[in-house]
Amino acid sequence: MTQKKKTPQRKSSGTEKSTPKAAVSVAKKTASGTASATVGSLTVEGVSVAMASTQDAAPQCPTRRDFMVLAAGAVGAAGAACTVWPLVDSMNPAADVLALSSTEVDISAIAPGQIITVLWRGKPVFIRHRTPEEIKEAKEADTAELRDPQKDAERVKPGHEEWLVLVGVCTHLGCVPIGNKGEYEGWFCPCHGSQYDTSGRIRKGPAPLNLAVPEYSFVSDKIIKIG
Ligand code: FES
Repeated sequence: MTQKKKTPQRKSSGTEKSTPKAAVSVAKKTASGTASATVGSLTVEGVSVAMASTQDAAPQCPTRRDFMVLAAGAVGAAGAACTVWPLVDSMNPAADVLALSSTEVDISAIAPGQIITVLWRGKPVFIRHRTPEEIKEAKEADTAELRDPQKDAERVKPGHEEWLVLVGVCTHLGCVPIGNKGEYEGWFCPCHGSQYDTSGRIRKGPAPLNLAVPEYSFVSDKIIKIG
């Protein structure tokens, strides 16, 4: 009778079939306290991947590490600047907006008693060629009892008192007043009834201030430059 030789079989655990298999050997620290490299292997569905960790492979030179940190910081700062600059640049006024920051107006065709409206920086600007009567009325009202006391002479250019230049925006809530209307024949605001005189000063109604005088100058007797 022949006996069957028993082939030694490996004990298999329930987890042996499962992949991935991972085996990692960790090197011991040397007596000098310096850690050596850690080497491992990982098997995933028949693919073996060797891993080598350089962790603590060698003590880093402090100066080299500092240089790397500084270099990374410099590159990061440059990257941030490159990212932010287009945003900042886009906030600058466009060329066409800058071109409108001042405007020149030919006033030679504006007859006495006539008002024209031009657009400047998106706002209406009134240019009024005042008659002698309108100038007289404006000067007679130069009193401290005005809501926003201001002399007529402070609102016009010396030698050009027949020309009144005003921002055409009511100082109450921003409506555009109508010229040659109201009790004072200056401007009347239809929104809430504010009334301005022939110097553009507030005389009645809820508006708190006179119509603003923009920055302007006479380029010649026929041309004014607003802005
Ligand atoms: S906005 Fe002109 S009176 Fe109110």
